[in-house]
Amino acid sequence: MSAKVIDGKAIAETLRARIAIEAAKLIKDHGVTPGLTVVIVGDDPASQVYVRSKVKQTAEAGLNSTEHKLPADTSEADLLALIAKLNADPSVHGILVQLPLPKQIDAERVIQAIDPAKDVDGFHPINVGRLNAGLDSLVPCTPQGCVLLAKTIHPDLTGMNAVVLGRSNIVGKPVAALLIQESATVTIAHSKTRDLKQVCRAADLLVVAVGRPEMVKGDWIKPGATVIDVGINRVPGAEGKTRLVGDVDYAEAAEVAGAITPVPGGVGPMTIACLLANTLKAAALAAG
Ligand code: GUN
Repeated sequence: MSAKVIDGKAIAETLRARIAIEAAKLIKDHGVTPGLTVVIVGDDPASQVYVRSKVKQTAEAGLNSTEHKLPADTSEADLLALIAKLNADPSVHGILVQLPLPKQIDAERVIQAIDPAKDVDGFHPINVGRLNAGLDSLVPCTPQGCVLLAKTIHPDLTGMNAVVLGRSNIVGKPVAALLIQESATVTIAHSKTRDLKQVCRAADLLVVAVGRPEMVKGDWIKPGATVIDVGINRVPGAEGKTRLVGDVDYAEAAEVAGAITPVPGGVGPMTIACLLANTLKAAALAAG
């Protein structure tokens, strides 16, 4: 059997087109252009690539986008001062501080300094709490993208056996919270889980976010299951080049699964589309 490939690139494109239409409406009806500000500290190459994509796609959807590039030796106090300025700026509806941050800066303190109404990452404890309480909130982008992709295969996730492999604050835990909200039966598995392979094999929906290249093999997957692979890992490829692989062994998994996201072109494009959706939502709320 060969799994259906979930085309995250195309699905994200459709979502971005919808956001562009809604943004244009907000501009026309309320005179408010949604504005996203991205802050990057230092020159981590992977972060620079992500930030460039975020800024470019924001502009393409007709939203305002600004970028603050700060040197790697920026102090925490200077970054907090910038955030205070952005919190007070009514033209800024969304603030994203790219992670990871240099070690002299406490990321948690920075996240908590962002106005929760502008926290388009959904990382502020207020938004985390609201999500877990089932209240309306700004939801983390990658988890939102995972659930939207799963719903292209299963529009109703009610009662499905979902296993989330990975328990990070950024992906695993919020994916689980969203799936609970969709009335799925959710198990969070991680590196300390006993019989990990068997736990994964019980899943009708398997979301993998562990950051370990090709860890999940074909025999970890229930035949016909839907697999959402959040991993983006650079591994040595042919001719001294690197190639991108997920946390799932795609070639093996595609033989067993019913549907699967590729890497690249699966969850990745959805993350940015959901960031734009959050910026639009924050702007619409601010516009009243
Ligand atoms: N670095 C990697 N992924 C993310 C993300 O979703 N948000 C932020 N702020 N930084 C990241």
